[in-house]
Amino acid sequence: MAICTACHPAPLPDADSPSAKTYVARCGQCHVPYNPHELTASMWDTQVLMMEAKIQNAGMPPLSTDDREAILEYLKSNAGTQ
Ligand code: HEC
Ligand code: HEC
Repeated sequence: MAICTACHPAPLPDADSPSAKTYVARCGQCHVPYNPHELTASMWDTQVLMMEAKIQNAGMPPLSTDDREAILEYLKSNAGTQ
């Protein structure tokens, strides 16, 4: 139930994989890293673009091509379906 995850966040899938670690390192600095299940693959495309603007505005180093690919691959392969 969605209300339960507010206080009991679901663990990230494949948390020990290199791409999950890149995800947490780059996407967990301003907020707790969101679970990939929470959005669909196409929503992740949009969301990562929006977050790259936030990263730039915050003066953080931009995502490298490798980082972006690893993050999107991780998010999309574990994405929700609706
Ligand atoms: C407002 C925050 C909050 C919400 C919402 C919430 N919980 Fe909890 N839940 C807690 C807290 C705090 C504990 C106590 C944790 C502890 O003692 O380590 C707890 C404990 C539990 C436990 C016992 C865990 C244990 O190890 O004994 C279960 C099972 C549980 N919650 C399930 C749920 C479910 C299912 C939902 C959704 C219907 C839910 N919770 C919604 C805060 C919340
Ligand atoms: C520079 C800080 C920062 C970084 C780094 C960051 N975010 Fe965010 N993120 C935010 C803020 C601030 C919000 C609050 C919503 C808003 O202002 O649009 C947010 C919100 C979100 C949301 C929720 C959007 C919603 O509508 O509820 C998701 C999902 C998200 N971020 C994913 C990511 C991903 C994926 C990355 C890595 C590519 C990332 N974030 C990195 C600042 C950041």
